[in-house]
Amino acid sequence: MLKSVDGEMLNVPEHVAIILDGNGRWAKKRFRPRTFGHKKGAEVLEQICEDAWDIGIKYLTVYAFSTENWKRPQDEVDTLMDLFHHYLTDYLGRIMKNNMRIRFIGDRSGLSEKMQEEIYDLERESVYNTGLHFTIALNYGSRDEMVRAMKRMVRDGHHDPEEFTEEMFSAYLDTAEMPDPDLLIRTSGEERLSNYMLWQLAYSEFVFTPVLWPDFNREELINAIRIYTGRSRRYGGV
Ligand code: IPE
Ligand code: IPE
Ligand code: MG
Repeated sequence: MLKSVDGEMLNVPEHVAIILDGNGRWAKKRFRPRTFGHKKGAEVLEQICEDAWDIGIKYLTVYAFSTENWKRPQDEVDTLMDLFHHYLTDYLGRIMKNNMRIRFIGDRSGLSEKMQEEIYDLERESVYNTGLHFTIALNYGSRDEMVRAMKRMVRDGHHDPEEFTEEMFSAYLDTAEMPDPDLLIRTSGEERLSNYMLWQLAYSEFVFTPVLWPDFNREELINAIRIYTGRSRRYGGV
């Protein structure tokens, strides 16, 4: 939808997905521990949620922790989990104030019981909120999501292959009821998906930026939307 954003007409995507990357390198450049970058990254995310809504984005889905990130040193994983815990509890008040609708995607059974409860509370308490649909991918891997979806489909009694459709499969994914992302942004210069929403990103536009996540801001977001505005989405047509 064409909208005026800070005085410029832009095609603002309904759903933006972001791979928040580069926290570690940002900290390293400052001779600080990687976890310092994660803390700064969490602050930036809060601001981006506000900017996204202000710009006219309806859905923001961010990759915070992958199913592969458990391979990191134990102290980094512990700090990240601690940070998520603080983020989730501390955040509840602000989420309600900002009217955001929170969802989590990923295998929550792999998270601590305390965190599972926090996730459940946030989702439940924000379910009728009408602001930004903010989704956090935690312990998320796209291949894992698809396997879990297939298991649930079979458990639900869908045994007849003739009955399977794309819509049915989509409805079993963690992202059920959400539109597919229009735009994917990955920060830090890496140009890969790292197991993020492989199914959902089938026709999304990709924008890669060298900016490290802790340096990301409203201007960078608008810049990505400007690039998106210049793209022609054909979905296989002409
Ligand atoms: C992204 O930053 C955040 C998480 C994966 C949790 P990184 O921690 O991957 O930072 P780099 O890529 O090592 O710089
Ligand atoms: C992807 O970033 C996962 C998240 C941003 C949470 P990584 O930094 O883990 O990805 P790779 O290892 O560079 O592919
Ligand atoms: Mg990284």
